[in-house]
Amino acid sequence: MSVVILALETSCDDTSAAVVVDGTEILSNIISSQVDVHGKFGGVVPEEASRKHLELINHVINEALSVAGLSFKDLDAIAVTYGPGLVGALLVGVSAAKAIAYGLDLPLIGINHIEGHIYANFLSEPNIAFPMICLVVSGGHTDLVLLKKHGCYHVEGKTRDDAAGEAFDKVARSMGLSYPGGPLIDRLAKGGNPDAITFPKAYLEEGSLDFSFSGLKSAVINYIHRADQNNKEVNKVDLAAGFQKAVTDVLIDKTLNAAKKAGVSTILLAGGVAANTRLRTDLSIKAAKTNHRVIYPPPVLCTDNAAMIAGAAYYKYLRSAFAPLTLNAVPDLKL
Ligand code: KG4
Ligand code: ZN
Repeated sequence: MSVVILALETSCDDTSAAVVVDGTEILSNIISSQVDVHGKFGGVVPEEASRKHLELINHVINEALSVAGLSFKDLDAIAVTYGPGLVGALLVGVSAAKAIAYGLDLPLIGINHIEGHIYANFLSEPNIAFPMICLVVSGGHTDLVLLKKHGCYHVEGKTRDDAAGEAFDKVARSMGLSYPGGPLIDRLAKGGNPDAITFPKAYLEEGSLDFSFSGLKSAVINYIHRADQNNKEVNKVDLAAGFQKAVTDVLIDKTLNAAKKAGVSTILLAGGVAANTRLRTDLSIKAAKTNHRVIYPPPVLCTDNAAMIAGAAYYKYLRSAFAPLTLNAVPDLKL
């Protein structure tokens, strides 16, 4: 018998609902982006995000069911992201999920947003063999996670300051690009020379699996200010390529080190920055030399979406790991 899960994701600035069968078959994955609302501010405005989620959530849920060709009575469970994220934003999804679970007497499944990103990989590759290392790189997180079995996570390294996506967005902003800047830098960098401008790479102490991107971010911003003061034109494509190389080289080297240290042969990429072209291709090329297999989701499943939440929820459903109706939003939820 198949398991049909409706999942909701409202942790940041995307209102999303998805219907997924057996953790693999995505019947619908509706994502209503709020980029038009937050773009003019150059970043996410928490109050606006909550308000927008409230406006959109019912439409997005109805659309997810309608695209799937199902109704509420066809569901086996309702899953929702309950942290980490913006508290007001999370509360919209959590409240909606609890109302549906209570009204229809369905099991409720609470999912950690990072866990959801990781499970985006299992939507198309459900039989990936454990153990594995996953690099989770998003606007809010940069974590190296060791997975020994379903639902068992060990954080091997994390950023000590900015997340990788945050560095992409802040550098993009200083280059006059719109929000979110990651995809724009990715596109610009394709036409640039990554070795024309060299930026610092922070490897931290010998053997450390932690990250730091604030020094790199400041170096790029200072480079742009200096050029401005000297009335010099910045070569934006070379700048984008040089910055992107500095970020991805460190991410790749540390991910391969983490895989070697843990003795695992499978590497997963997850989170919005996992959509980055250079990260995907360079990691795959370098990993092939050490016989590591690299798996990453299609770009649309790297950035925030509810299908990944339904994917993670399926494995919790199989373990009957259900949440009580007192489930609350936890903005600083840990893995
Ligand atoms: O996972 P996500 O949608 O939201 C968070 O959980 O934060 O990640 C969004 C982040 C943003 O910082 C965005 O600029 C970055 O992912 N991003 C990218 C690319 N696509 C999205 N960064 C670099 N290259 C990309 N192609
Ligand atoms: Zn995310």
